Amino acid sequence: MSDVNESPRPATKGITAGRGPNGRSLAVPIWASAVWEAESAAEAHTLARSARPDEFYARHGNPTVSAFTDAVAALEGAEGALAFASGMGGLASIVFGLCSTGDHVVATKSIYGATSAFLNGPAARMGITTTWVNGNEPGALAAAVIPGKTTLVIAESPSNPTLDLVDLEELGSITGPFTVIDSTFATPFTQRPIEFGVDLVLHSATKGIAGHNDVTLGVVAGEQELLDAIWAYGILHGATPSPFDAMLGLRGIRTLDVRHERQCSSALTLAQRLEAHSGVSAVHYPGLPSHPRHALAIEQMDRFGSVVSFELARRDGFADLIDRVKLVRCATSLGGPETLMCEPWTTTHSGLDEESRRAISIEPGLIRMSVGLEHPDDIWADISAALERS
Ligand SMILES: Cc1ncc(COP(=O)(O)O)c(C=O)c1O
Repeated sequence: MSDVNESPRPATKGITAGRGPNGRSLAVPIWASAVWEAESAAEAHTLARSARPDEFYARHGNPTVSAFTDAVAALEGAEGALAFASGMGGLASIVFGLCSTGDHVVATKSIYGATSAFLNGPAARMGITTTWVNGNEPGALAAAVIPGKTTLVIAESPSNPTLDLVDLEELGSITGPFTVIDSTFATPFTQRPIEFGVDLVLHSATKGIAGHNDVTLGVVAGEQELLDAIWAYGILHGATPSPFDAMLGLRGIRTLDVRHERQCSSALTLAQRLEAHSGVSAVHYPGLPSHPRHALAIEQMDRFGSVVSFELARRDGFADLIDRVKLVRCATSLGGPETLMCEPWTTTHSGLDEESRRAISIEPGLIRMSVGLEHPDDIWADISAALERS
């Protein structure tokens, strides 16, 4: 009993965390209010000057949103968390909340397309420069840090879409700049970067956390002091999460462990079957011994994730494959109940020029598959039949 109370396992925390001011309701109420009444002029003034008040004005805070962020903080082992209207709202708020003109960022090359577009676009226009490094190379992130100038080191692991891994211990031991990891592909049930000393963990909760393809939401977990600075920027930027989405994010957390366990186990099965198929020339999945950082995956991840990327022997085969599958759908998100496939070359990373895409191993014919909750044998029957005919 004391074990449960004092040190609950992640699966238990997913149920107990983020209960909020619920009265006797088991589900967190949706506080739709955009504004709260103060008891006096003095209280209104105090609330206006407070960091993250829950009951003042919804852009500054909201009790339903706080219930969601409390749950994420508990799962990540963080002091706190902040929610945003999307994962990109979180990323933009980290960068503009913590960097000033003239600052320098180090980021991994293998990263979500919109993250690189943000750093190369709006951030660069504001005089924040980025050095792109190969996160697979030991020591590369630390080596690119310019003392006194680098404010942030941003990595993504597993990365979108090639499932490269960054060594979390190495990232967490970088001193000077704040370290940030986009852990969307992992979810808090697969890796907890703060345990490795990483300062901030970002999730697009649109993905596995909310988990049903019906929410757009972002969350950043880490130290209060950093979160206060990000919050101070975020309320001006206005990427405010909706309380309805926060409720759905919290509801997603309640079942995330079992959903993710099933999705990761199916992903491993499908990765193994794809690797043995003659129509497939390469499979990228941290759970396969052929993954270049499989040993690292075992060290720092509890599971290997619900996304598998693979390359067709026929470079132009994606359109044919998508025409032939019946169960699998062509869509660009991940972490939901439906198995989805997309071609990063033409979708998630199409904003990068061809050379930049090729530099991070994104070629036509590379397919990113988000493994859903259907039975893995049914998913495989669908894909293998489509591969036979293409
Ligand atoms: C790894 C990763 N980070 C961030 C994002 C951005 O999240 P959102 O679409 O919620 O803004 C995505 C979206 O696909 C993603 O895959």
